[in-house]
Amino acid sequence: MQQILARNRRWIIATAFNYVLLITLAALNIQLAVKLAGYITILYLALTLIPVRLRGWRSFGERSDRILLQLQGQRRDFGISAAWVVILHALFAFYYYGGASVGVIDLRFYLTPAIAPGFLAEGFLLLLLITSHGYLKRRLGTSWKPLHRMIWIAVGLAVVHTFLAARSYTAENTGLAAVIILLTIIMTAVLDFIIRSRRGKETDIQKTSLAFLSLGIISAIILAVIL
Ligand code: HEM
Repeated sequence: MQQILARNRRWIIATAFNYVLLITLAALNIQLAVKLAGYITILYLALTLIPVRLRGWRSFGERSDRILLQLQGQRRDFGISAAWVVILHALFAFYYYGGASVGVIDLRFYLTPAIAPGFLAEGFLLLLLITSHGYLKRRLGTSWKPLHRMIWIAVGLAVVHTFLAARSYTAENTGLAAVIILLTIIMTAVLDFIIRSRRGKETDIQKTSLAFLSLGIISAIILAVIL
């Protein structure tokens, strides 16, 4: 038990802090809590996906390299923390924008052009959260890494979700900021492929990530059009 706690200490502390912060904020201003939880999620995704790629490109100087190495070492904690925070984001959003606060439980809320991509993205993050733990990771063996590359589907879905949701559901349309953060994550995946190709290195992983990303964006656009 001690060992399990030690291995998971960082994301447990981060999640406890995020939950206290966001639940307290939700009691004061639930719209702000929905938005902040969304931003904390995508910032964790940026910390999960960007440092490892930057490190593969070149040295940024001793001090920066040390920081990037530390951030890379905490990828699992950032990824798990992102999934826990998005659960609160979705719950608060359903409570406030989905009508639950006035006693209306209307699940069609999830089948709207802006929310459906977010709902699917949350599904992928929860799948990755569940399979991030020792037993399932061991059971999945060599298929664990390909499965976890599906995080790029969630990133693709989230770009369209944040753009549309901010436009449809908030007084303060800050969607552009969220799209810029997600596009920065996407740019590192594209640059990673270009840099490795130019160096004549293996690019199968990068190709899979970009394929999943495109699948996420295209599915979100199709959902936004048909719903
Ligand atoms: C069932 C799942 C989800 C629901 C119901 C949901 C609902 C919402 C709603 C109603 C908004 C508009 C509120 C606002 O912009 O302040 C929003 C915005 C946002 N969502 Fe989600 N969301 C879900 C999943 C996700 C996921 C998986 C991510 C990230 C990976 C995400 C990231 C964001 C961000 C960053 C914003 C802020 C955009 C902005 O206003 O600038 N959401 N979401």
